[in-house]
Amino acid sequence: MNGMKMLTLLGLMVVGSGALASADEAPIVGGHTQLSGERKEQALTLLDTTLSQLATGDGPTYKAVNVTTVTSQVVAGTLYTYQVELDNGSDKKDCTVKIWTQPWLKENGTNIKIKCEGDEGELDRTW
Ligand SMILES: *[C@@H]1O[C@H](CO)[C@@H](O)[C@H](O)[C@H]1NC(C)=O
Ligand SMILES: *[C@@H]1O[C@H](CO)[C@@H](O)[C@H](O)[C@H]1NC(C)=O
Ligand SMILES: *[C@@H]1O[C@H](CO)[C@@H](O)[C@H](O)[C@H]1NC(C)=O
Repeated sequence: MNGMKMLTLLGLMVVGSGALASADEAPIVGGHTQLSGERKEQALTLLDTTLSQLATGDGPTYKAVNVTTVTSQVVAGTLYTYQVELDNGSDKKDCTVKIWTQPWLKENGTNIKIKCEGDEGELDRTW
């Protein structure tokens, strides 16, 4: 959990200016920030960690094989949104994954929602 706390702190930090960062990290509508560089790496680590936790719970087992975009939004915690290709071992699908972390909560501090193209339902787990 310390790792997650760290990630969220990083997520909360506003990345300073700089010619390179400004184009990629300009806030987009609704307070979503497109992530790049180190913040994107941190968010990808969070994605892998959370998918592993999901797999060791009651599943399903997904591997992120191709992440197209990652955004974050600060909303009583941090909401990360990933456009990602998920592989469940037999099939690959394009999915939207949302991970909401409130790492100061001992329980129910992580919520993951997964919605895949062509699927009716949405997976929604909290722990
Ligand atoms: C990743 O996804 C993008 C967008 O769907 C696609 O253009 C690209 O070819 C994919 N890359 C790999 C390695 O699958
Ligand atoms: C993987 O996803 C496909 C398509 O949704 C599904 O038919 C298959 O049962 C899934 N396999 C596992 C191991 O969950
Ligand atoms: C966590 O969520 C479960 C299921 O909704 C609920 O029963 C439990 O009371 C929650 N725990 C806390 C500390 O809010």
